[in-house]
Amino acid sequence: MKLVGKVALITGAGSGLGRQSSQLFSSEGAKIAVVDIDPERAAGTVELVKEQGGEAIAITADVSQRDQIGAAVDETVKTFGKLDIAWANAGVVSRGGVPTVAGGEQVNFEDLTVEDWNNVLGVNLTGVIYTAQAAVPALKANGGGVILATSSAASLTAYHDIAFYSATKAGVNGMVRGLSLDLGPYGIRVNALAPTHGMSPNFLMPAGSPVVGQSYEEVSGPWDPFVSPIPLKLNRPPSLVDNAKVALFLASDDSAYISGAVLGSTDGGTLSRVGMWFEEDLNQTNPNEQ
Ligand SMILES: NC(=O)c1ccc[n+]([C@@H]2O[C@H](COP(=O)([O-])OP(=O)(O)OC[C@H]3O[C@@H](n4cnc5c(N)ncnc54)[C@H](O)[C@@H]3O)[C@@H](O)[C@H]2O)c1
Repeated sequence: MKLVGKVALITGAGSGLGRQSSQLFSSEGAKIAVVDIDPERAAGTVELVKEQGGEAIAITADVSQRDQIGAAVDETVKTFGKLDIAWANAGVVSRGGVPTVAGGEQVNFEDLTVEDWNNVLGVNLTGVIYTAQAAVPALKANGGGVILATSSAASLTAYHDIAFYSATKAGVNGMVRGLSLDLGPYGIRVNALAPTHGMSPNFLMPAGSPVVGQSYEEVSGPWDPFVSPIPLKLNRPPSLVDNAKVALFLASDDSAYISGAVLGSTDGGTLSRVGMWFEEDLNQTNPNEQ
């Protein structure tokens, strides 16, 4: 067990990666503060953790509000006595960022509003900064710990229609690098994971939707790695658990000497793709069947 005696606060833990990781971190011995803007989702995660014999509390907080995430950290320390791991995981996609095949509306970049920008910035970057700021005194009092952030492959490479989102996630990477220098003397490590595949379809669904609990690839029918664009060909689809395990690595002492890193999680080589498509990239077949 990798997190015995640890206390972890995870934002956006009512769904997707945060929910899956709450379960994984708990099975590794951690007590979990499940923070989400949606109280029912937070309660649902706590129930799942308790069902597997773990300890967790649900806290309703909007990470874009400094006082709310501050109160969430205070409640965590009051309940569990300390804080070891603060994971700023909550994130939202910008309007126009949901593909039309998934029911999204097309919005041109120039038509996005100040409200659109403030919404995505408030959660994805300001929310990460507020979570880190709120956690630092508790982590210093603890004699060290871990700040983790969920960035995105979109912070490292180009995606259509989510320039606002990409900008906020690139900001997260910058914060992680800078803060790792400032907090190193206190024994506080600061890292991010940048998920690509194996992530939550809830992310593209309206707020309050039932939590799916599986990845895009798992829900999209029978798995054929040679149909998938992921360069690495495995006989099962990537999952939330694959991403949660990368978070576990970064939250645990297995990464004790890693700080200031942005780690592409579950990208299967996607982030290493060539800038230009070549014949062999477009027409891949299973070499085992040749
Ligand atoms: N799913 C993807 O395609 C994908 C890909 C790469 C990175 N990410 C990132 O992964 C992280 C986790 O997202 P997910 O995929 O699990 O999505 P998800 O939608 O399943 O879960 C996110 C949770 O965050 C909560 N939340 C939203 N706004 C909040 C706020 N202001 N305060 C507190 N909680 C809030 C939601 O209620 C939800 O329960 C996000 O930072 C996201 O940007 C997602």
